[in-house]
Amino acid sequence: MRGILLAGGTGSRLNRLTRITNKHLLPVYDRSMVEWSVEAMVAAGIDELLIVTGGERVGDFMRMLGDGSSYGLEGLSYAVQENAGGIAEALGLGERFAKGGPIVVMLADNIFEHTFRPTIEAFRANPQGCRLVLSKMDDPTHLSHLGVPEMDEDGRIVRIIEKPEVPPSHFAVTGVYCYASEVFDVVKTLEPSARGELEITDVNNHFIGAGHVAYDVQPGFWGDAGESIPAYQEVGEFVARNGANKP
Ligand code: DAU
Repeated sequence: MRGILLAGGTGSRLNRLTRITNKHLLPVYDRSMVEWSVEAMVAAGIDELLIVTGGERVGDFMRMLGDGSSYGLEGLSYAVQENAGGIAEALGLGERFAKGGPIVVMLADNIFEHTFRPTIEAFRANPQGCRLVLSKMDDPTHLSHLGVPEMDEDGRIVRIIEKPEVPPSHFAVTGVYCYASEVFDVVKTLEPSARGELEITDVNNHFIGAGHVAYDVQPGFWGDAGESIPAYQEVGEFVARNGANKP
């Protein structure tokens, strides 16, 4: 199965740590943030990976990850996103790599205690529309920095609200998304949001509107290490104590 790991962006919420480097090259316990996400993709069954990152640091990623074989990848490719035009813009750069097939997308600042392999296997068995990974958040203060699903009484996702002032549920939309190949046509229809980015939430809301969304609730800890300095620290401390990407 092919996967795209998104590691571009400005990392402004981790300023000053990101003044001279890319956020995903920062350490999380005993390795770099991006390595945790590469290992997460491999554990989930991804064998061919494309990493999208900004041009300034792409050489550092290559030095760190090489051809991916030491992580268990059969192939590792790189693509450059010239400007941080949003997660969906970065995803769009992977169209040729996807070769017309389904694709698994991961944001490289996400850290999971347990593998999300069951989601990938469920999607592989039925690669339609989109399949999301949700995490129930014990601390609701995180939710106003994330995408949050609004659900009906049957637990169906009605829509996702990006960075809601009043979160409509206790779930976060994590940065793992499984898409049918039509996702690249959806990306081409997007308009920049108020913050000037092509938003992944608009992609997901497209599939929700079409009734083609499924989701799983991820067990254990999940963290967005790029959310803020305190979140970065919280994720690092969790990983040091408990590890990540466990079965
Ligand atoms: O982590 C989960 C959250 O990620 C979701 O709950 C939100 O719905 C989703 O929009 C996203 O929110 P963030 O505000 O955390 O996104 P951020 O701008 O931090 O970008 C996340 C990753 O995407 C980051 O690790 C690098 C990559 N990225 C981002 C941008 C803006 C790119 O590769 N290119 C970009 O232009």
